Amino acid sequence: MAELPAGSDAANLNANADAAHTSSSSVVADNNDSAQSGIHKFLDNVMQNNPYFAAGGGLMLLGTGLAVARGGIIRASRLLYQQMIVDLEIQSKDKSYAWFLQWMSNHPHRISKHLSVRTTYIQHDNGSASTKFSLVPGPGNHWIRYKGAFIKITRERSGKMIDLTNGSPYETVTLTTLYRDRHLFNHILDEAKSIALKSTEGKTVIYTSFGPEWRKFGQPKAKRALPSVILDKGISDGILEDVHDFMRNGKWYSDRGIPYRRGYLLYGPPGSGKTSFIQALAGELDYNICILNLAEGHLTDDRLNHLMNNMPERSLLLLEDIDAAFHARKQSGESGFHSSVTFSGLLNALDGVTSSEETITFMTTNHPEKLDPALMRPGRIDYKVYIGDATLYQAEKMFMKFYPGEDELCSQFVGKINKLGIRVSTAHLQGLFVMNKDQPAKALEMAATLRNHNSIL
Ligand SMILES: Nc1ncnc2c1ncn2[C@@H]1O[C@H](COP(=O)(O)OP(=O)(O)O)[C@@H](O)[C@H]1O
Ligand SMILES: [Mg+2]
Repeated sequence: MAELPAGSDAANLNANADAAHTSSSSVVADNNDSAQSGIHKFLDNVMQNNPYFAAGGGLMLLGTGLAVARGGIIRASRLLYQQMIVDLEIQSKDKSYAWFLQWMSNHPHRISKHLSVRTTYIQHDNGSASTKFSLVPGPGNHWIRYKGAFIKITRERSGKMIDLTNGSPYETVTLTTLYRDRHLFNHILDEAKSIALKSTEGKTVIYTSFGPEWRKFGQPKAKRALPSVILDKGISDGILEDVHDFMRNGKWYSDRGIPYRRGYLLYGPPGSGKTSFIQALAGELDYNICILNLAEGHLTDDRLNHLMNNMPERSLLLLEDIDAAFHARKQSGESGFHSSVTFSGLLNALDGVTSSEETITFMTTNHPEKLDPALMRPGRIDYKVYIGDATLYQAEKMFMKFYPGEDELCSQFVGKINKLGIRVSTAHLQGLFVMNKDQPAKALEMAATLRNHNSIL
């Protein structure tokens, strides 16, 4: 049986070989007749009588069969893989990205050969600075063990795509684990989030502009208690009440199609607690704060607009020294002038904020007389309040804050300030009290020296 097909195959091949032989004969024949017949015989022999060649067809079939089977195995295992493996991709744009990296850097059971360093620069209130390094997983593959499951973590950089808001490359982290362990992804994200939030709990995150984007400025600061900023009678409560009222009325605004925003202007001499108050207010409201100083040279109209439309959520916007925008208009073109935010740029930015959330903008200036009346329109500045030099009321409250229980010395101190007609900033008063820590009598004695600091206004 086996001989028949093999034989017929061989016969066909033989016929072809003959044909080949005939065509090539013209070349070979002249030279060597006996060689030609020798090759012919050899071919006949091989084709008809060789059992190995006859088995060739069988081998071919077997090979094909194996190839099919192999494909099947690959497909089956791929299917199995797809069924058993889940992955989760976190993109660098997503807030949980940083949380996850931080979580992973704290995770004890991990194998990482690639680490990246993340440096945090902390500027303390007293001006000193310190640096903190933390090692986060770098690009590449990492394995961790979490609650008994193995999870593969791949951090990848997309070389081509650039995040236009900050110019850094897009990155993704992909977590891969067995299907049955997929619920662990939620656990991890929850854990990462709560660790991240704990580090800012009771703190105020301060953002400043870094090129076109907001960046955290130093580590989150401990919240400053609102009562620690001593403004004149009723001022603090007045602002706080207004903000609360505004925040309660989102529906009122949306029902009437009015942009949900409110602007506050605090004006007055330097060192009167404007910035401190706004920071403390942010803490009180449990908001973060985004600070832009219009007197700093690097801001342009476009950048201001972009930043104001891309604020981190739950943050107050603080625009410091807004009068700078007015010099810019009057002196534009003058060489050497550094601010490039213009008056119209400021108005456009204030009017153009298209946030779905509420927008609360605080503005400060030491030179209210330089502001253009157009700024006072509702929606730009809705609430305006003067924060001035220390009044007797403030002097008393500050004294009592620094020297609790020293009522007698306090009234002497206030009497002396009053009699001497001293008008100084609250910052100067604070300076005197700090210099005489725990020595209220000495502070009283030195009160007259405050006259040397009489503020310019
Ligand atoms: N009214 C105030 N109550 C408490 N501290 C104040 C007050 N005014 C100024 N200070 C202190 O003086 C310093 C400068 O205040 P700051 O808020 O920067 O003033 P401004 O923004 O009005 O120029 C800060 O250390 C702040 O704590
Ligand atoms: Mg200030």
